[in-house]
Amino acid sequence: MREQWGSGLGFVLAGIGSAVGLGNIWRFAYVAGENGGGAFLLVYLLVVAALGVPLVVAELAIGKRGGADAATAFASLAPRSPWRHAGWLGIAGAGLILSYYAVIAGWALRFVALALSGRLWEVPAGGFAAGFGAFIADPLAPLLWQGAMMLAAMLVVAGGIARGIERVNLWLMPLLALIVVGLAAYALSLPGAAGGVAFLFRPDWAAVLRPGVIMDALGQAFFSIGIGMAVYVTYGGYMRPEHPVPLSALIIVVADTGFAIVAGLAIFPAVFAMGGDPAAGPELAFITLPQIFLAMPGGRVVGSVFFLLLAAAALTSMVSLLEVPVAAVMHRWRIQRTAAVALTGGAILLAGVPAALGYGVLAGVTILGAPILEGVDRLVSNLLLPLAGLTVAVFFGWIVPRGEAPALAELEGRPGGAALLWMLRYLAPLLIAGLMLRLLLGAPLPGDG
Ligand code: TRP
Repeated sequence: MREQWGSGLGFVLAGIGSAVGLGNIWRFAYVAGENGGGAFLLVYLLVVAALGVPLVVAELAIGKRGGADAATAFASLAPRSPWRHAGWLGIAGAGLILSYYAVIAGWALRFVALALSGRLWEVPAGGFAAGFGAFIADPLAPLLWQGAMMLAAMLVVAGGIARGIERVNLWLMPLLALIVVGLAAYALSLPGAAGGVAFLFRPDWAAVLRPGVIMDALGQAFFSIGIGMAVYVTYGGYMRPEHPVPLSALIIVVADTGFAIVAGLAIFPAVFAMGGDPAAGPELAFITLPQIFLAMPGGRVVGSVFFLLLAAAALTSMVSLLEVPVAAVMHRWRIQRTAAVALTGGAILLAGVPAALGYGVLAGVTILGAPILEGVDRLVSNLLLPLAGLTVAVFFGWIVPRGEAPALAELEGRPGGAALLWMLRYLAPLLIAGLMLRLLLGAPLPGDG
């Protein structure tokens, strides 16, 4: 029998749990920092409204109708077309993302342990940068923390939909909301915080016009919301008939964006108040912030809570990414959930080993000139996710019989329904394909400066 969410609230919180993760805290802050703050935020909001909401609606609608797992869902809507295989792109992609996501989640977990034991506040020889560099270059430690996070995600997913995934999100998501609001309130009260607020909200028009910004915004939006990797197709498969598609999509996207902004309001004011560099890049969370926490009144408590937030948010996203291949393997091979979790989780853990070792043993191997983890992340965000989003838009806009789409999306006769379907049919494919073409035709890769 098909599993189902216990309640509508539980389902929406699980969706938010998937969306809110490292992307909102670790990635949003540094990508916005590198792209001029407020300028980036503006483009980001436009992309979220024009593409993010329609794509989540489409994914949930495909899953709610098709059920079971992503492969089955796509196949059941286009049984005789080559598009019936489209679900596999998301299934493979979710596994790929999880493989390196677990590594960063492991870093966060290690920082929780360091903070709780008090060792985070003993400045390492050579400073925080050297300390962090030594940790990620270690041949063993990053693997152990990555393995611990994978094990935690596997235990949750093994518990099933209502008793595992939903229950964890019901507890963690309200807690995370409280924590991030509390952290922002504290950061905003610091003298000098205004610079951080201005950085996040005041648009720098020169930066808006830089060619890479739109692609960075699109990649960040898709990553942060969690679009294209069949997470919402899979989660949609467990919806009850009375759970609404459009409203759930809207709540998930608004919550994700709100969370990123509030997290930005926790991070940038603190960075500015303490004279840090907002454009420090991926190490912002792990090198810059510990320095700031150390110098800040009450920073030890705030810092511990921050890393707890980071690790917990990462866990609920990992769970969603893991459920995609687990559901597919479970149904396709007709095996038990626990067996599917062990097989898929084990394979994804192994696949993430190169990313974990990419700063030490495998430092000689680079992708796009970056360490393995950052190179794969850039390929995923700027190529795979746009491609997957394009696939969902074309599938829902053109392959699903035209007369059925509004009913599937539960948009018949609703204000804005026609506009939303128009975005999926025309705007999303043209915009995404255009941006990807520009990229492939040799424009500098976003992120290259
Ligand atoms: N959205 C999560 C984050 O912001 C990561 C994530 C979960 C994701 N599911 C996804 C990214 C699906 C891409 C696709 O950290």
